[in-house]
Amino acid sequence: TLYKTDSSASAGQDAKAVDEAFRRRADWQLGLQGILNSLKSREMITYTVLNEISHVPSSEGHLIAQEGSPEARVWSALPAGGKEGKDMDELRKALGADVLKFGQGKAFAKKWVRKDPTNDKKLVRVEGLDSIRDETQDDLREISKSGQIDGGSKAGEKKLLELKKRNLITPRKLLYFDVAKGPNFSLTLEKLETDLTSEMLVSGSWKTANFKQYNFDAEGAVPAAGALHPLLKVREEFRNIFFEMGFAEMPTNRFVDSSFWCFDALYVPQQHAARDVQDTFFVKDPQAAKNIPEDYLKRVVEAHENGSFGSTGYRYKFSRAVTEKLVLRTHTTAVSAAMLYSIANQPGGFKPAKLFSIDRVFRNEAVDATHLAEFHQVEGVVADYDITLGDLIGFMQIFFSKMGVTNLRFKPAYNPYTEPSLEIFSYHAGLKKWVEIGNSGMFRPEMLRPMGLPEGVNVLGWGLSLERPTMIRYGINNIRDLLGHKISIDSVQKAAAVRFP
Ligand code: PHE
Repeated sequence: TLYKTDSSASAGQDAKAVDEAFRRRADWQLGLQGILNSLKSREMITYTVLNEISHVPSSEGHLIAQEGSPEARVWSALPAGGKEGKDMDELRKALGADVLKFGQGKAFAKKWVRKDPTNDKKLVRVEGLDSIRDETQDDLREISKSGQIDGGSKAGEKKLLELKKRNLITPRKLLYFDVAKGPNFSLTLEKLETDLTSEMLVSGSWKTANFKQYNFDAEGAVPAAGALHPLLKVREEFRNIFFEMGFAEMPTNRFVDSSFWCFDALYVPQQHAARDVQDTFFVKDPQAAKNIPEDYLKRVVEAHENGSFGSTGYRYKFSRAVTEKLVLRTHTTAVSAAMLYSIANQPGGFKPAKLFSIDRVFRNEAVDATHLAEFHQVEGVVADYDITLGDLIGFMQIFFSKMGVTNLRFKPAYNPYTEPSLEIFSYHAGLKKWVEIGNSGMFRPEMLRPMGLPEGVNVLGWGLSLERPTMIRYGINNIRDLLGHKISIDSVQKAAAVRFP
């Protein structure tokens, strides 16, 4: 069976209606083809697509099909017999200037009319011509019915070309679907299986089940993939800077640590404000840390109580209970301390090292737009012989320039474990002011020497938050839009990649 989509534009339709009909037909053809495809995939039918060009009258052509060609209308407007003429002005009034102008030329050429020999302001029919055949109108009527003239013959083709030149017809593409019965032809539609299930295997029904064909042209569903949180994207950039500079990553999996590593090993006095419950989360259960290295602890106690290696110490009674208190680490410097201790005591002895970490820390702080009770620190330490404050400053300049931050200032600051300590500032062009971007310093001998690091080895260190540069990068003003239960998953999924600088 040959299904042909109908292309005829019936007389009486205007050009806009014809266009609209064709648009609907194009949609319909696509819809039809979709249905045919689905039947084909079940092998119920086979089909091929055939194209054909057909024609429809233009709006002018449509008018001619209804009212006749200009030349015929000029001829009809003249009195019969061919004796009496009609005044041009009168004809213009009756037919319109265009029809007269165009129609008289054609009518002259066809020898239907002539100038009145007695009055050249008048037109007259050619004598003895009692009827004419308006071929143009006939052709256009045929085209609006069948889309072609003379069944597509050579002569018809020539006429089509002529009408096209006169803008009386426009070509249209026609789709045919040549449809035939397929091996599974049926008048009822069976629901096809899409999956081979374990039940089918067990019952054996798979043997007789009808499966849907694979469609290898299908686009496939978009896989539900995870997305990296903006903090992780920025962290990756920091990691790359560190790796580029020859740093190794420290293991940071100890969120809960002892006060020993978080404070005492860092030469933070046991009465220090940071150890207050206001600033630090203490762990209730278990109450006390195990595995504090006893030898090293002894040297730390000595450094705190009486001083050692030339220091006078803090001169207070060190409490073992306080050092054993477990805390949620307040800074990643707890990790740096444990690593420095371990490289001081590694087999083969101390070797220079560059280490970094990026991970979570916890502080018992009032939560506001820029503070959370937990955040991430980016921290680096460099341990080598004869490192100086100049190295620290030069190093910070290189490190931050890799983030695109070049304009640095250093301000003296205080940390119990570093001397000197420097806060790092950078000029923020947007905020038009200097903003603190990090904290740094040279670790004190009171911290390093009890660890067993050789004399002459100095360690520089610095830390910054991961949240601050991330918020600046992503233009986030409230930290609660970045981290925590209120953030939108959508914003995480849509967050752009980050590249430093
Ligand atoms: N621990 C410091 C802080 O929390 C950062 C720092 C690390 C400072 C290393 C000096 C040396 O701000």
